[in-house]
Amino acid sequence: MKNKIIDILSENIEQMSKEDIAAALEIPKKTDMGDFAFPCFRLAKAFRKAPNMIAEELTAQINEKGYDIFDKVVNVGAYINFFLAKEAFAKEIMKTVDTADFGAGTEGEGKTVCIDYSSPNVAKNFHVGHLRTTIIGNSLYKIYSKLGYHVERINHLGDWGTQFGKLIVAYKKWGSKEAVEKNGIDELMKIYVKFHQEAEKDDSLNDQAREWFVKMEQGDEEALAIWQWFKDISLVEYKRIYKLLGMDFDHFTGESFYRDKTHEVVEKLQEKDLLVESEGAHIVSLDEYDMAPCLIMKKDGSSIYATRDLAALLYRKRTYNFDKCIYVTGLEQKLHFAQVFKVIELLGYDWYQNLVHVPYGLVSMEGGKLSTRNGNVIYAEQILHEAIEKIHEIINEKNPDLPNKEEVSRQVGIGAILFNDLYNQRIKDVIFNWDKILNFDGETGPYVQYTYARCASVFRKVGAVELPAEVDYSVLTDDATMNLLKDLTRFPQVIKEAAEKYEPFMIARFAVSVAQHFNKFYHDCQINVEDENVKMARLKVVDVTMRVIKSALDLLGIECPEQM
Ligand code: ARG
Repeated sequence: MKNKIIDILSENIEQMSKEDIAAALEIPKKTDMGDFAFPCFRLAKAFRKAPNMIAEELTAQINEKGYDIFDKVVNVGAYINFFLAKEAFAKEIMKTVDTADFGAGTEGEGKTVCIDYSSPNVAKNFHVGHLRTTIIGNSLYKIYSKLGYHVERINHLGDWGTQFGKLIVAYKKWGSKEAVEKNGIDELMKIYVKFHQEAEKDDSLNDQAREWFVKMEQGDEEALAIWQWFKDISLVEYKRIYKLLGMDFDHFTGESFYRDKTHEVVEKLQEKDLLVESEGAHIVSLDEYDMAPCLIMKKDGSSIYATRDLAALLYRKRTYNFDKCIYVTGLEQKLHFAQVFKVIELLGYDWYQNLVHVPYGLVSMEGGKLSTRNGNVIYAEQILHEAIEKIHEIINEKNPDLPNKEEVSRQVGIGAILFNDLYNQRIKDVIFNWDKILNFDGETGPYVQYTYARCASVFRKVGAVELPAEVDYSVLTDDATMNLLKDLTRFPQVIKEAAEKYEPFMIARFAVSVAQHFNKFYHDCQINVEDENVKMARLKVVDVTMRVIKSALDLLGIECPEQM
């Protein structure tokens, strides 16, 4: 429908390209301003007239030609307001929306996107910050896939670095096999904390740690065996969380994967004469770009985080030949990625332009930091289980006879957390408030899921029906239905924009808006009525709404129970 209006406008305004017309065409917030509005400000120059006059003349011209898709075309100020003939409009929308994979795009066909996300640090608990990168990264994966891109989901585990030297020292001094086997990451965290306490008093511990890490880099068997064991233990916990979230990765190629690939970085930098010595270490100076230098090699010859990221980029470009490589991490890594991308540019690779850092804000508990009473950070797994339990209680109260309560509680509990993480712009801090997150009536995951279940219940009540391909569109012209239908048509555009801006919150907002419009429709328009025409048409509206909600929630990584 929008395209038709663009065509008509383009017929009447030679001075403007179709693209510019499309960009200017608005959907008014208020329905009394019509279904579409076209502002004439930009035409003032070309027409050498006041925008109001242009709008008036164009309106008259369009009315004279008498297009039958319009109910009326009205001029208000500098705007041309289009009121569509509702029946034709309803028909057109239903045709657009009622397709197998509405919202899917083809722009990504033949293109590959790498998304580097989640990436927890081995031997450390998976905390709520890592939950955010996991949730955002997973949603971006879904969004890009929907647009036809091939996506490589990469978990760049923090499984290499001096901290493992420290852990080895700590384990040898204070650890035990039994305790690590029994308590997993908790035990590793404990001895790691102990290491830091002791190292304050005895600096030689730090030297020992560095030596152990150098040994790891040189392939020492004992060092690597302990490290591998710590990594395996950690992965068990991480994979348990991913399973709970219903998420997966294509590669668990962490930092250690690049340990034999960092020399290539050093060589290339040397070839380009970019590596300078500074206090025994090797760096790339970024003074010229107002950035701190990028450290490449430490005094003892060992690599650092940035070296491994550079090696990873060379590897990924070679292996996946990506069109874009996206990194989802907290904002505090902004400088790190700016440095890494700059070094790639200095190495002469023009694909530095296709590297994107997608940062996000902090997570905090309402009224303070996200920590338990004894001062520890809250772990992701704990939060997820708490959400599931709380939803279980709510369901026990609201719908005690629900079948498969356990599974539904998981879907809704996880959905609530995911939705809360995705409902605002990434960069905004997420504030945790259980009452808000779990509210079935708020702007929440459970609310949207509940709306989906409501749609499903409509079909359960009417029993098996076969929906006709065409319905009587004249019964869909009331305000509540039209507003819902119009809202649904935004889906493809919303997906595109969310991808362009790396902002899943746009999808989350859209899902809430559709749910709200649906609930208005559900309230105003009785569905299971005698009149077969009305019933079929409205069921069809429920059907398309249901599919759009499911598909929107899927883009956020959220499942839709049929009943809740
Ligand atoms: N392990 C890092 C952290 O927890 C995140 C890694 C992000 N990805 C990367 N390629 N540097 O902070």
